[in-house]
Amino acid sequence: MRVLGIETSCDDTAAAIYDGDAGLLEHRLATQIQVHQPFGGVVPELAARDHIKTLLPLIDHLLEAPANGGIKPDAVAYTAGPGLAGALLVGASVGAGLAEAWGVPALGVHHMEGHLLAPMLEPDPPATPLLALLVSGGHTLLVDVEAVGAYRILGQSLDDAAGEAFDKTAKLLGLGFPGGPAIARAALNGRPGRFSLPRPMTNRAGLEFSFSGLKTQVRHTAGQHRLEPQTVADIALAFEVAVVETLVIKCLRALRQTGRKRLVISGGVGANARLREQLRCAAGDLGVEVFYPRPELCTDNGAMIAYAGYLRASGILPPPPWDGTFEVRPRWSLEEI
Ligand code: KG4
Ligand code: ZN
Repeated sequence: MRVLGIETSCDDTAAAIYDGDAGLLEHRLATQIQVHQPFGGVVPELAARDHIKTLLPLIDHLLEAPANGGIKPDAVAYTAGPGLAGALLVGASVGAGLAEAWGVPALGVHHMEGHLLAPMLEPDPPATPLLALLVSGGHTLLVDVEAVGAYRILGQSLDDAAGEAFDKTAKLLGLGFPGGPAIARAALNGRPGRFSLPRPMTNRAGLEFSFSGLKTQVRHTAGQHRLEPQTVADIALAFEVAVVETLVIKCLRALRQTGRKRLVISGGVGANARLREQLRCAAGDLGVEVFYPRPELCTDNGAMIAYAGYLRASGILPPPPWDGTFEVRPRWSLEEI
């Protein structure tokens, strides 16, 4: 079975073909960074308009790629949520339209299930049960995964997601968009110890996160100094270290609590080199094996949607109850699936 996966939940237009026997055949992505850069963040209306222009030509190229050989897919999966309503509607309507024309089923996929399953596309995929840390622009989730398809949220952000905190802090520091990679780059020149920022909510029990206070602290610190490049680098480093340490502390707490021996890290912030390195060390000390997708499958991509769609279209997982309803769900908890 071959599944075309379509991802348009935010500012990346992406599509991929997953084959049940051969695995991931091909994936393509067009980023909208240039569109949103002047605004320092994603503008929902512009995102939807750009998906409309980009998606069909991108799918055309994908289907014509030699790895696919022009073969018609057996099902079409599209991201049904969570995400920006207008952006999701573009992927959903194109996906449902193609499926109708081809006479194959269309399935709405949960974006965060896609992120969670992305490491399964790698040569050494994790078995279940496992613990997953999903850190993206829209979500910060600690998920206990009893089996693929059985998800329990242990903790999440009460305010800004980790990626959102990176993006807002980068904007404050004049580092541009998207903020995560910009902060990570600037932090390489930062001097450790010049600034110290709090590790929010780590000194009390629980697995919830809160990153908006950290951003306020950065604003306060930045306001007290002239923002020349060395100071920006020093603040960027202090911020990155604070977010990474907070995520590591909560992951270790969740691992001890659940006794899970496998940890998956995925979502855009999962591409952060410091986070990957520190979690590998810290989890390793607990005898926990850590699994990451390659960075291009950590951030938004079509491959994870094609794969999640394949599991449900092929009957490996039960079909989603919302099948055939052509519905998008901008707000949608992973536990509801
Ligand atoms: O998963 P993703 O591509 O899109 C959403 O589902 O939101 O995540 C995007 C987020 C952005 O906030 C971006 O700044 C962040 O991931 N990000 C990073 C890095 N690369 C992307 N954050 C920290 N370090 C990175 N290297
Ligand atoms: Zn995402």
